[in-house]
Amino acid sequence: MALTRTLPFHDSGQLDAASPASSGLLTEVCQGLSKQQKELPSRLLYDELGSALFEAITLLPEYGLTRADERLLRTHAEAVIGQLPGPLLVTELGSGTGKKTRPILEALQRRQPVRYFPIDISTSALRRCRQELEEVTAAGPQRIHIVGLETDYLNGLREVARQRHAEERLLVLFLGSTIGNFDRPAALAFLRELRGALRQGDALLLGADLEKPEALLLSAYDDALGVTAAFNLNVLGHANRVLGANFDLSAFRHQARYDRRQRRIEMHVLSLREQGVTIAKNGFSCHLRRGETIWTEASHKFNPEELNAWARHSGFLPRRQWVDQEWPFAENLWLAD
Ligand code: AVI
Repeated sequence: MALTRTLPFHDSGQLDAASPASSGLLTEVCQGLSKQQKELPSRLLYDELGSALFEAITLLPEYGLTRADERLLRTHAEAVIGQLPGPLLVTELGSGTGKKTRPILEALQRRQPVRYFPIDISTSALRRCRQELEEVTAAGPQRIHIVGLETDYLNGLREVARQRHAEERLLVLFLGSTIGNFDRPAALAFLRELRGALRQGDALLLGADLEKPEALLLSAYDDALGVTAAFNLNVLGHANRVLGANFDLSAFRHQARYDRRQRRIEMHVLSLREQGVTIAKNGFSCHLRRGETIWTEASHKFNPEELNAWARHSGFLPRRQWVDQEWPFAENLWLAD
C-alpha cells in the first residue's frame, strides 16, 4: 500500500481547506480512489475526533498493544538508560501525549538534567505531552527541558541533531508500533534515513507489535464496542469535512482482515450498496460496487528475529530486545553502527 509511506499523524483539528497540505491530501485521495483496490491515506484517521477515538482504542480490553508497550517501558526503563552511558538527549517520533515516555525520562532524570524533544505534527498532542510531563519536572530531582517540534519525523530529527551539544548522544524513541503502519519496504527505507540523521553510538528504541493468533488480532481491530469501527469510518467523515467529499457513513461498514502472507491487519471500509462519491473541492467522482472496499490502514506484525535483521540492514546493531509475555510486543534497543 503505497499510501502507508505517508507518516501516520495525529492531527489536532481540521486542515485549512486552502492549505498546500490539504491540496496534497486531495491529490492523494483522488489517486487512491482511482486504484483498482481503492485506498484512502491512513493519515485521514487522525483528526481531533480520530485521535480521541485512538486514545479510546488504547483502553479497550481487546487491544493489548499499548498496554504491552507501556508495561515494557515501565519495567525496563532503567535498563534502557543503563545501556547508554554519558550525556543523553532524548527525542521521540510521534510523541502523542508523552504518557508512555514518562518512565524513560524519569530514569534519565535520576542521572542528569533531561533535554527531551518530542516531534509531532499535532499541536494539541505536543501541548498534552508538555502538560503530562510537567509533573515529572516538578516532582523529579532534575529539570526536564522540553522542546516540542511540530513537524514530520525526519525533518524534526535532523533539527534535533543540529541542536545537540557535541558531547551528547541521541536516544530516538519510536514507540507504539507505528513502524507497523508502513509497508515493510517503506519501513526499512525510513529506518535507513533515520540512521542517516544519527552519529555512530546514537540509539533507537523501537516498539514493534509481534505476530500472534489471528483471532486475537481480529478482535483487537474489530472490538465488541465498535470503537475501532468508529475510528475507521471517521476517515470518511474527515474526508467530507476537509475536502467536501459526500461519503454517506451509514452506507459503509468497518472491516478488519488479516493477510497471512503479508503478516498484517488491514482495515477497510466496505460499501453496503452501489453508490457514487464526489469531492466538491475538485469535482472528482467515483463509483463503488456493493461489497467493494476502500483500504484505509495496514498494521504489520513482526517476529523478533526479523527485527534484529532489520537493525543490521538499516545500519544499526541490535543491542537488547525485551518481549512482553502477556501481549507479544517487542521493545528493541539498537545502536547506530
Ligand atoms: C497507531 N497504530 C500503531 C495503531 C495500530 O495498531 O496499527 C493504529 C490502530 N489502528 C487500529 N487500531 C489501532
